[in-house]
Amino acid sequence: VSRIALTGIKPTGTPHLGNYLGAIEPGLALAERSDVQAYYFIADYHALTTIRDREELVRLTREVAATWLAFGLDPDRVVFYRQSDVPELFELSWVLACMCPKGFMNKAHAYKACVQENEAAGVDPDAGVNMGLYTYPILMAADIVGVDADLVPVGQDQVQHVEIARDIVLRTNHAWGEGTLKLPEAMIRGEAAVVPGLDGRKMSKSYGNTIPCFEPTKRLRKTVMRITTDSLPPEAPKDPETSLVYRIHSAMLSRPQAEELAARYREGIAWGEAKQLLFEAIEERVAEPRARYEELMAHPERIDAALAAGAERARERARAVLGRVRETLGIAYSR
Ligand code: ADP
Ligand code: TRP
Repeated sequence: VSRIALTGIKPTGTPHLGNYLGAIEPGLALAERSDVQAYYFIADYHALTTIRDREELVRLTREVAATWLAFGLDPDRVVFYRQSDVPELFELSWVLACMCPKGFMNKAHAYKACVQENEAAGVDPDAGVNMGLYTYPILMAADIVGVDADLVPVGQDQVQHVEIARDIVLRTNHAWGEGTLKLPEAMIRGEAAVVPGLDGRKMSKSYGNTIPCFEPTKRLRKTVMRITTDSLPPEAPKDPETSLVYRIHSAMLSRPQAEELAARYREGIAWGEAKQLLFEAIEERVAEPRARYEELMAHPERIDAALAAGAERARERARAVLGRVRETLGIAYSR
């Protein structure tokens, strides 16, 4: 093993096709490589910036974990855990906070989006912003450097956060020397960089515009039929690049397959048919994983056991990294 890959998903909503195509599928492909050791986790403390209900947090944590497992994550091979099972990350987070200019947080997109909304609504710019949301990228940096990660497979929306982590690492190493922290790199999958949602904005749990991975077949078909389209007549040629149905569908395809599909759009395809093709493509991809997902959700103790096994391994690694950092900084020194 020469490279460490790490990624996390926060349990704030039911996993959707954007999560699968942007994070889970590329993450699983990466974990297959013999030169890579993967650390994939559920960012439950990150979810605490918004979730206020115990049952909901427990359910969503299991949903996200079961989604990874259902799509094929092998917990013997991948270190698979809950963020909250690795308390060393929170200690590290303080160190990183001390190395992070406040201005970075002012510019982080999730916080900035809240400020902009507040300003547009004419209320206090920081209304509804808690410090967890504000310092979110610092904890994310701790997740990453806490296992000495090299590669961080994420969707486009998370690249800025990885850049912040890199910046913090460079500053830390500048102060204490190369090798204090490992410099990570984001890895994004081109075609699926941003999967659009039903309404054309980024598919996101926060926008209620998602195609959940494991809806029952009938409901999945209904959801796909809700994708926004224009009112061109059935036989009219369609521009694939401006079609949401195409953009979602092509994110699931190889380049040549996507080209073939684009040609059908240009010849003229009825929206009903285009959506039916997309529905069938999704159904084919999720049918078997859905059966595994339902089985896991019916036996949550199996999900919890998989996470508990990974927790031990993740913690061992984070303990080693934190020990190195503390010794380097002269915190709780032992010699
Ligand atoms: P959400 O926006 O639904 O809350 P998260 O922020 O929890 O999703 O994202 C979890 C992972 O899934 C991240 O790696 C993120 O980049 C990826 N991801 C989320 N939405 C999309 C999307 N629409 N297209 C591609 N990747 C996505
Ligand atoms: N911020 C990520 C998201 O919203 C989740 C996350 C937390 C993460 N820590 C991470 C992703 C570390 C990659 C690496 O999707």
